[in-house]
Amino acid sequence: MKIVKKVCVGLLIVLALLQFYRPEKNNAETRDITAFEKEMKPGAEITAILEANCYDCHSNKTVYPWYAEVAPISIWIDHHVEDGVKHFNVSNWNSYTNKKKDHKLEELIEEVEEGKMPLDSYTWLHGTMSTSEKEALLAWAKKARESYH
Ligand code: HEC
Repeated sequence: MKIVKKVCVGLLIVLALLQFYRPEKNNAETRDITAFEKEMKPGAEITAILEANCYDCHSNKTVYPWYAEVAPISIWIDHHVEDGVKHFNVSNWNSYTNKKKDHKLEELIEEVEEGKMPLDSYTWLHGTMSTSEKEALLAWAKKARESYH
């Protein structure tokens, strides 16, 4: 029993100390999607879908939930955001070559079709896309790709 108590106290101390570690946030003042929108013309419906399901991990501004302030959840979320932004960031759209843009859209179609995006860990709390939203998103992405062929 004594040892269990010691382990618990130890874990609590580690958890408390972890709160001092503040991962760097992905929080530009405004979400910059101007260049992406100008070129990809998502329109209001698709923009709403992207806002609700994708931009938290694929733009320069994440809207963090309150629990993102609590370690170790903060560290876990930060890892997903950092990795997501690194792979695909609509706020950096202008810095991509046409080949890269086309490839990212191709990946987008694949990931959404396979149900890999948005990440499961995100949909647990934010909900999933409906089938019609998914279809609308895919139709837009396929059409958007045409401009690169
Ligand atoms: C919780 C964060 C998160 C959300 C929300 C999210 N993604 Fe991702 N996304 C990631 C991470 C992390 C990766 C990189 C690892 C991987 O491919 O699984 C990624 C990779 C991608 C890639 C692949 C880029 C490449 O070059 O391989 C595309 C495209 C993408 N996401 C599109 C989307 C779309 C579209 C949505 C919304 C429907 C979305 N993501 C929602 C985190 C997220």
